[in-house]
Amino acid sequence: MSYVIAAESPSRNTGHIKIHTAEDFEGMRVAGRLAAECLDMLVPHVVPGVTTNYLDKLNYEFTLDHRSLPACINYRGYTKSICTSINHVVCHGIPSNRTLKEGDIVNIDVTLIHEGWHGDTSRMFPVGNVKRRAERLIDITHESMIRGIAAVRPGATTGDIGAEIQTYAEARGCSVVTDFCGHGLGRVFHDAPNIVHYGRHGDGYELREGMFFTIEPMINLGKSSVKILNDGWTAVTKDRTLSAQFEHAVGVTADGVEVFTISPAGLHKPPYSQI
Ligand code: MF3
Ligand code: CO
Ligand code: CO
Repeated sequence: MSYVIAAESPSRNTGHIKIHTAEDFEGMRVAGRLAAECLDMLVPHVVPGVTTNYLDKLNYEFTLDHRSLPACINYRGYTKSICTSINHVVCHGIPSNRTLKEGDIVNIDVTLIHEGWHGDTSRMFPVGNVKRRAERLIDITHESMIRGIAAVRPGATTGDIGAEIQTYAEARGCSVVTDFCGHGLGRVFHDAPNIVHYGRHGDGYELREGMFFTIEPMINLGKSSVKILNDGWTAVTKDRTLSAQFEHAVGVTADGVEVFTISPAGLHKPPYSQI
């Protein structure tokens, strides 16, 4: 794997890992904060009876109102500005006229582009009161992501991130989805390297200061197998057990990690105190 200077590289996935400058960090900080603010804005709207199309519309308007563009619209033919993945949907659920029901758990994944930089983040939202096992899955998934993030520093490897996530989730009887992964990002939405959420310490690619990528583990209560529905996007667990996901965009700093997508309102994970 080779490492190249982002500002001197094409704005597409060339298969090389891009290394970013202090100025690039500032761009990601602004884009990441906006994406996180968008999720904060959605919190009071995720209630029984609301359609996922309505949440999509709120995101679309928020994004344009903040001098940004939704990265998902027209991305490989995707037609909406967010993904809404409910219950056994693992990722890439397409907003529709379906209404959320009491007891559902839904992942909302926002990606916006601000001044060329991608802010990509997702959180789980419980709809009203949810079952204890759903709450537990959400907690395990969030903590696995946090442990993955804590492994990030120069000299560590992508395998260190995956090992932390997999060990934590599997010790609690859950499984890690292996069909989808985190990704480099910056001026490019999905860039090198892939950040898989399983693996062994020391495997994979070396992390270097200036790398930007997402960590976005999908964790299932049942088995890890996934299938894609006929719409070509919606990924579901084959055994129809619940799946959860959180996502942060991060940068590798001289001595560790900076998380670009921290919630300004402190709404990191449920329960979200209603504002
Ligand atoms: N935001 C998702 C990710 O974390 C990608 C969604 S692509 C879409 O990488 F086209 F489905 F929106
Ligand atoms: Co992502
Ligand atoms: Co995302």
